[in-house]
Amino acid sequence: MRLKDKVAIVTGGANGMGRSTAVLFAREGAKVVVGDVDDAAGAKLAAEVEAAGGTLTYQRCDVSDEAQVAALVATAERVFGKLDTIFNNAGIEQQVTPSHEVTADLFDRVIGINLKGTFFGCKHAIPALLRNGGGTIVNNSSVSAFANVGGNISYASSKGAIMSMTRVLAIEYARRNIRVNAINPGVIDTDMNRRNKALSTDPDAVEEKWRTITPMGRMGTGEEIAETVLYLASDQSSFVTGIGLLIDGGRVAT
Ligand SMILES: NC(=O)c1ccc[n+]([C@@H]2O[C@H](COP(=O)([O-])OP(=O)(O)OC[C@H]3O[C@@H](n4cnc5c(N)ncnc54)[C@H](O)[C@@H]3O)[C@@H](O)[C@H]2O)c1
Repeated sequence: MRLKDKVAIVTGGANGMGRSTAVLFAREGAKVVVGDVDDAAGAKLAAEVEAAGGTLTYQRCDVSDEAQVAALVATAERVFGKLDTIFNNAGIEQQVTPSHEVTADLFDRVIGINLKGTFFGCKHAIPALLRNGGGTIVNNSSVSAFANVGGNISYASSKGAIMSMTRVLAIEYARRNIRVNAINPGVIDTDMNRRNKALSTDPDAVEEKWRTITPMGRMGTGEEIAETVLYLASDQSSFVTGIGLLIDGGRVAT
């Protein structure tokens, strides 16, 4: 088991790739704390993991609220005694909109959850990781930090900035035994993309476009993302810090 006796936090872990990661972490021996705003899905996940013999606690946490993120980290330490790793995964999409029509409110909302939420996760996890003698942070950026299709300026900006944040923290804490990395998923089959597709006037064309821009010709799965997060969170990647790992079916190679 690659995370035996480790304590892990997954934000946005009630659905999508966060959920797949929380399930894999628990299967690999971690005690998992999931923070999300979807309480029904969080409670269902906790029951499923416990029924399968794993350990998972769900706590409501809106990552754009600093106090709630601090409380999530405090729960991990209070309930399980320490923190070894955090996957800052919670994020929302921006509906495709011409950039000159994006309102300040929309921009603030996406940045508030995706970027500030990741910052709060890092900021509050780091003292706990230092108390633990070290640990790992994995931030969920996106292929959008490198390759884009346009029309999602707040989302792409948040994901680009997460790459910068990851590098800053990797350098700052490298000698204190905290490794900080990011993942850059391509098009993954989750509710986020189901919502993106549903908003289009031609959903079939949207899906065809996703296949066309991805050399492997398909969407990735949450399970494929989870395996990569596990690699970066665990000792398997012990000399890896400050990177963004593309999981994109070859998209950025084109
Ligand atoms: N799906 C993709 O193709 C794709 C590609 C690259 C990156 N990502 C990133 O992966 C992450 C997960 O996305 P997903 O595709 O699994 O989406 P998803 O919508 O399936 O899951 C996102 C989860 O985050 C939760 N969430 C939303 N706002 C929150 C908040 N304020 N506080 C806490 N939790 C919140 C949701 O309730 C949900 O459980 C996001 O950061 C997303 O930007 C997704």
